[in-house]
Amino acid sequence: MTKPTKTLPRLFDFDKMPRRATISNGLTGQDILSVKQFDRERLAYIFGRAHEMREMVERVGACDLLYGHVLACLFYEPSTRTSASFIAAMDRLGGRVIPITQGVQFSSVAKGESLPDTIRTLEQYSDVIVLRHPDIGSAQVAADYAGVPVINAGDGSGEHPTQALLDLFTIQQELGQIDGLKVAMVGDLLNGRTVHSLTQLLLQYDVSLRFVSPESLRLPMVLMNELIDRGRKVRETHDVADVIENADVLYVTRVQKERFSDLSKYEEVKDAFEITPELMRQAKAKMVVMHPLPRVGEIHYAVDSDPRAAYFRQVKNGMYIRMALLAAVLGKA
Ligand code: NCD
Repeated sequence: MTKPTKTLPRLFDFDKMPRRATISNGLTGQDILSVKQFDRERLAYIFGRAHEMREMVERVGACDLLYGHVLACLFYEPSTRTSASFIAAMDRLGGRVIPITQGVQFSSVAKGESLPDTIRTLEQYSDVIVLRHPDIGSAQVAADYAGVPVINAGDGSGEHPTQALLDLFTIQQELGQIDGLKVAMVGDLLNGRTVHSLTQLLLQYDVSLRFVSPESLRLPMVLMNELIDRGRKVRETHDVADVIENADVLYVTRVQKERFSDLSKYEEVKDAFEITPELMRQAKAKMVVMHPLPRVGEIHYAVDSDPRAAYFRQVKNGMYIRMALLAAVLGKA
């Protein structure tokens, strides 16, 4: 005779628990792979939410908007700001993080696991995945396999959409407008993914663009052609002195050493630019110097005390923008 099975008392009374309410905002459940997904209306929405996030953090520090949600942070390339700000964003919204940010050499990637398998594993534990990877198109590959939203945190020299959003937000915060500005991009325009994404975003505004780089690091041809197709003049120079007097925004970037197969070519251009206090004397009183960071010599430390140096304020904006994005893709904002 078999013993009668006792029914176990239930751990949870789901009927008495609040539901995970979601709000549709056009981004809920979406991957964030490229700035091309953002029109001006969507940008205004994210920027409005980022303002609210700032207010919330300044007043109370944290909230429980994303309580019960898990973010997997998967970084195949080094990062300080992008990874830390996504983690801080999730913390401030009451969610949790699986951090694979200290080097994939400690994950099964070191055993030869493929990107699709790593993604299909992490999606079992998480509600959203942030990915940084050295290959152009890798975020799209991850999104093709993942059942949860994938956010591109940099795919090689391709795109870095969340950085471009925080860059644009910073311009608006610092100068009170975007239309009508003169923006100069300086540095490694060929390999810098932040330049590629920000240039694309700025094409939606009435801005005049200037590109300052050594000959070997000019903006990629596809992007140049896009500018021309959109009726913009491609104005290029090798010298910051040509643009500094008129620029409203000086967006400086480092030479991307890791993208060079021949390091002697890197050595030739690595010290191409340095923004110094002397150079800043030629700039307008109301302008901003920005940099996605890290800097490795392109902006002299003596410029940091200049009120026009906005790069650390830009860093902080990154957290608010990523809070707004996480809340949006998870249907909470
Ligand atoms: C940038 C990146 O990773 O593309 N950094 C960042 O995310 N803030 C810029 C760079 O590494 O030069």
